[in-house]
Amino acid sequence: MEEKTNINIPRGTRDFSPDEMLKRRHVEDRIRNIFQNFGYREVQTPTFEHLELFTLKSGEEIIEEIYVFKDKGNRDLALRPELTAPVIRFYVEKMQMESKPLKLFYIGNCYRYDRPQRGRYREFTQVGCELIGPDTPEAYAELIYLAYTLLKNIGIKNIVLRLGNLDIVYAFLENMGVRRNQFRELMHLIDKSRFYELEKKLYEMRVAKNKIKMFKEFLKCDNINKVEEFIETTAVKRFKEVVDFLKIFGINEFEIDMKIVRGLDYYKGVVFEIDAPILGAEKQLCGGGEYELVPLFGGKEVSTAGFAIGFDRAIIALEEEGYSFPEQKIDVYVIPVNEKMLKNAIKIVNMLRENNIAADIDLMRRGLTKSLKYASSVKAKKTVIVGPKESEKKCVIIRDMSSGKQVEVKTKDLLSKTKM
Ligand code: HAM
Repeated sequence: MEEKTNINIPRGTRDFSPDEMLKRRHVEDRIRNIFQNFGYREVQTPTFEHLELFTLKSGEEIIEEIYVFKDKGNRDLALRPELTAPVIRFYVEKMQMESKPLKLFYIGNCYRYDRPQRGRYREFTQVGCELIGPDTPEAYAELIYLAYTLLKNIGIKNIVLRLGNLDIVYAFLENMGVRRNQFRELMHLIDKSRFYELEKKLYEMRVAKNKIKMFKEFLKCDNINKVEEFIETTAVKRFKEVVDFLKIFGINEFEIDMKIVRGLDYYKGVVFEIDAPILGAEKQLCGGGEYELVPLFGGKEVSTAGFAIGFDRAIIALEEEGYSFPEQKIDVYVIPVNEKMLKNAIKIVNMLRENNIAADIDLMRRGLTKSLKYASSVKAKKTVIVGPKESEKKCVIIRDMSSGKQVEVKTKDLLSKTKM
């Protein structure tokens, strides 16, 4: 006898039921709409890329988590862990001549060999955008405002926006005598909140104790004036301008957090994160900022900034906050009471569908009682009962499923009656 194998879903991946898909598509539609309202246009890139695209400058953590494979031509390929590097590759290859600003958005699945838990998956969806061209404070402010607006307008009530600035952190480190090639490991420790190790590392780098203490104080800064007391650079002035424009766009609720260093290596300048505290451990909904990848991929230098939202986390946040998602309903369910009525019933369901009414028909020859039961389980608003007596009079019965009221109508009047 042939042995049966149980094939399960791979760890960290999910199947989405019809109800879940309805929620996801609903949120996706709103997101597309908001991006388009801000002048962004959608792009799509492949699910896999040359491995090198991600190893050049994505950061150690991402590289550790990457899904790598060889194809039949022995090429090293990777499932994309994020979409910024692919979109910038696309820009360098084909879009450099387009007029600026170039505003691109995407919705796509990403893969990271992460330790799965609620809100953290091996396959997940990112919704994000890249802004190519402008290097003005109002451009960065608009980008941050867009991320905030997206999350608010899809219906998430409680979010916290934090802003940081890597140029300021780097300037501080340089002032302390830390070399550029040493930044990376320090940034990693800040990102992971491993401050004791950070202190030890700085000490090993021969930074004076009082300077280390000052740096630790600086990282605690929670407003821009305090930052200014620690360090005076053009980066602080620029950061202040971004913050001022953000207020003009209409956001007054945000925190300054100099500890935001982001997990990817390509960032510089303004960086930001948005959390949904209701999500607990995996509360980070969105991350982004200014970055540099274009020259690395062989393109002509240009300013770039963007962000990505964890779409799956956004859905969980909405569910947790009790957001009421729309339900899919059938407008009309057509029931032929016996086999002889089938032909007539098919004509009716065709006519309804042609007129853009969501209509379905009993395909299991189940008879009236069972069909009515099924119609209420699929939340049909009305049923059309096609019976022999009525057919002789060129009529059908319309039943309102919530009140149970039934009326006989001429088949030719059905459309106007079901539209009501
Ligand atoms: P990221 O912070 O690595 O940034 O990812 C963005 C968002 O994706 C996170 O805030 C989180 O909500 C979601 N996310 C990340 N990993 C997972 C996972 N394993 N499961 C579920 N959700 C996850 C980027 O990827 C940058 N490319 C963002 C960007 C665009 N920067 C500039 N442009």
